[in-house]
Amino acid sequence: MSHTLCDRRVLITGASGFMGSWLTKYLLEQGAIVTTILADWNPNSYFVHSGVIYQVKNIVGSIEDYSLLEKVISDHNINTVFHLAAISVEGLAFEKPRQAFEINIRGTYNILEACRVHSDLVQRVVVASSDKAYGDSPILPYTEDLPTVGKNPYDVSKSCGDMIARSYHNSYGLPVVIGRFGNIYGGGDLNLNRLIPNTIRCLLQNQPPIIRVPIQGSFMRDFLYVQDAVNAYIAMFEGLENPKVHGEAFNFAMGGSWKVLEIVQKIQHLMNREDIEPVVIPQSHGEILHQHVSIEKAQKILGWTPRYSFNEGLRETIEWYTEFLGSPSVANGQNSLVAPPFSSAPELNNQISG
Ligand SMILES: NC(=O)c1ccc[n+]([C@@H]2O[C@H](COP(=O)([O-])OP(=O)(O)OC[C@H]3O[C@@H](n4cnc5c(N)ncnc54)[C@H](O)[C@@H]3O)[C@@H](O)[C@H]2O)c1
Repeated sequence: MSHTLCDRRVLITGASGFMGSWLTKYLLEQGAIVTTILADWNPNSYFVHSGVIYQVKNIVGSIEDYSLLEKVISDHNINTVFHLAAISVEGLAFEKPRQAFEINIRGTYNILEACRVHSDLVQRVVVASSDKAYGDSPILPYTEDLPTVGKNPYDVSKSCGDMIARSYHNSYGLPVVIGRFGNIYGGGDLNLNRLIPNTIRCLLQNQPPIIRVPIQGSFMRDFLYVQDAVNAYIAMFEGLENPKVHGEAFNFAMGGSWKVLEIVQKIQHLMNREDIEPVVIPQSHGEILHQHVSIEKAQKILGWTPRYSFNEGLRETIEWYTEFLGSPSVANGQNSLVAPPFSSAPELNNQISG
């Protein structure tokens, strides 16, 4: 158990999502007292299945509600904030840009402002950013000193959130640190249209996996296994003990670059389904072409390094989805991504601050 996390009063946004549920589980295991701002949850999510939902204080609401955030921080004596909540899927942000900007930008300054107002309480703030925040940089691999200049709604929302977080340090001395993550993968991601879960799902259902191809050639991406991403969040949290880390951004990924086709083939090989021919679909809207981050800064300053090889991470992920997609509730089509009415889970600690 981590003595730095034990009895910490943590607020996490996005706890019911893919990354948030793994991180929350880890924080609880380390003895942290966790409060969440819960906008929605999926009955089939890792957040629910792992039992995490029942071990935290869930405040039902949205990060768009500034006064709620202020009240939660003060009512629960929050000293540590992990801000992960977002519209996290590029396609969704492309279709609903206003919603993406509201949640990813306004939600981010709301939470940072609430931390600033309660700077007597809040000692550490960790913000989830993305390698997409760099936009389509011709300079590879991305280093943290590159400008954050996204072009499309999701990238722009992450560039803005990233800059806003740094401004709260630059102007107000808020102890904030920013993690720019490559594509995170692992069990529990219910955004099933993402490359890795979608490929596994297709192969389990004897269907051809789908490869989206831009006109210019091929997408290249950097990846990170979810357990390594949890360690990255903890490394940032611990790093904040050093004032030199305040206001800094760090890249986290494996520090390589893979073509979409390579990933699909890797999964086919690990699942022994090389017999199914992938289907190639042209990409309709602009997405960043090549992404590859340098992880040297995180290695040097935070002492973080990825522990999982791609094959190890993929094996665990395949195992998780094989079990998940074979479970009766999911197989019977109850994997609705629409949240149930909050009142349907009365056993939750559904506090609405009022
Ligand atoms: N998954 C990745 O590959 C990846 C890579 C880089 C960065 N990120 C960033 O990491 C964070 C977590 O990503 P994820 O994949 O776990 O996302 P996810 O889509 O699985 O989860 C998003 C979470 O945000 C919450 N949320 C959405 N709108 C909200 C609102 N208005 N108020 C409160 N909560 C709200 C959802 O309920 C959910 O818990 C995001 O900020 C994302 O941009 C993710």
